Amino acid sequence: MSHNQFDKKSQAWSALFSEPMSDLVKRYTASVDFDKRLWQADIAGSLAHAGMLAAQGILAPSDLAAIETGLRTIRSEIEAGAFEWKLDLEDVHLNIEARLTQLVGDAGKRLHTGRSRNDQVATDVRLWLRDEIDLIIALLRELQLALIDVAEKNVEVILPGFTHLQVAQPISFGHHMLAYVEMFSRDAERMSEVRRRTNRLPLGAAALAGTSYALDRERVAATLGMVDEKGQPQVCQNSVDAVSDRDFAIEFSAAAALCMVHVSRLSEELVLWMSQNFGFVKISDRFTTGSSIMPQKKNPDVPELARGKTGRVVGHLMGLLTLMKGQPLAYNKDNQEDKEPLFDTVDTLKDTLRIFCEMVGGQLNAATGQKEGGISVNAQAMEQAAARGYATATDLADYLVKKGLPFRDAHETVAHAVKAAISHQVDLSELPLAVLQQFNPKIEKDVYEVLSLRGSLNARDILGGTAPNQVRAQIARQRARLG
Ligand code: ARG
Repeated sequence: MSHNQFDKKSQAWSALFSEPMSDLVKRYTASVDFDKRLWQADIAGSLAHAGMLAAQGILAPSDLAAIETGLRTIRSEIEAGAFEWKLDLEDVHLNIEARLTQLVGDAGKRLHTGRSRNDQVATDVRLWLRDEIDLIIALLRELQLALIDVAEKNVEVILPGFTHLQVAQPISFGHHMLAYVEMFSRDAERMSEVRRRTNRLPLGAAALAGTSYALDRERVAATLGMVDEKGQPQVCQNSVDAVSDRDFAIEFSAAAALCMVHVSRLSEELVLWMSQNFGFVKISDRFTTGSSIMPQKKNPDVPELARGKTGRVVGHLMGLLTLMKGQPLAYNKDNQEDKEPLFDTVDTLKDTLRIFCEMVGGQLNAATGQKEGGISVNAQAMEQAAARGYATATDLADYLVKKGLPFRDAHETVAHAVKAAISHQVDLSELPLAVLQQFNPKIEKDVYEVLSLRGSLNARDILGGTAPNQVRAQIARQRARLG
């Protein structure tokens, strides 16, 4: 009678089991349909483990050679789409190991020495996520550069800055774009921090208690690039924690959710700005769609979808937190449920960032070497909107303060002036000097400089402020940071 565990689902796990799994239970417990995407990490982990076993004298050199050849064959089979994934073999780990044994015989059966699927899966997910984080950090960099390009072209363009979605004060459109650069730079920072904690090795923890074989865990970590900035191998220090913890996945999801929230706010602004009532910006037609009934429509589908997809990424974070909250130590099968939310979070975030890089910054035209498309700005519409909202009222108050009025009195005086301007349906800057002087005799002709949008912008010449020279300094700082 065969005791090969890989006969298991057609029969049962081992001699211990007296009945096979039903088809429904098989489907319910299997993860191969989704975790097969971990195959590269799984093979890398197995190669590192086998290499170490041989170096420690636990595995014969001939067995190592057979395992290496077998895993290489499996790699090319998977790459060629020729690998047969079997639901009966439950997950990516058992599928690869079974095929290895089929290819190289007993050597394949020796690979799992000193290892459990519990430390194996934790290692695979960490390796996979680490590499995805690197891609995400690269995309965040690209998006920041795209935003900086838009900022640079629009330093002098005046946008009505809003608070409560009411016109507040005029700001440089470039300055507004750079606010998102700050957000995405913090997102990238968070991703790097998560990467550091993700890039640690669970292998060697085995099922939960460690193993009686003399494994060299640091060697495996070094082989897999699980090292710190100084090149020191990073190994999970407690075997129970190593197999049960998924907080690297949770904090990644938190960082991803926050990043999507930033994308979502940008999306919301684009949707508003593109509406007829604002008319501030345009994006390329390829990011919009028409309506099946209203021929005049051009809908900002991509920003709307990004805003919508933020919901599912936030949901995945909640899912992972909830998945973990009731689990006793150490490994539980619940953890198999970490994968789909994690995979979907990575896919959604990467696609969203890619599409935003292009939507914001445009697409490279290979013939000209120039980027085309990207956000285009209707400077006139923005400036007119800023001019309509009494956006320089604070500047008038500041002017009076500089003439010796206490700020609260100046605030009240300007409120009266704004009321008068509203009743005459003019801007503050359109009130004649004589009228302005009725509110305070200290007002002189130079007030009109202060009341202009550009004067207001130039006045905010402070670190982090919206004066064009400050905005240019910000751009230089950000470019230097991004290298
Ligand atoms: N497919 C499992 C997972 O994703 C692998 C680990 C299974 N370990 C076990 N003892 N059943 O978590």
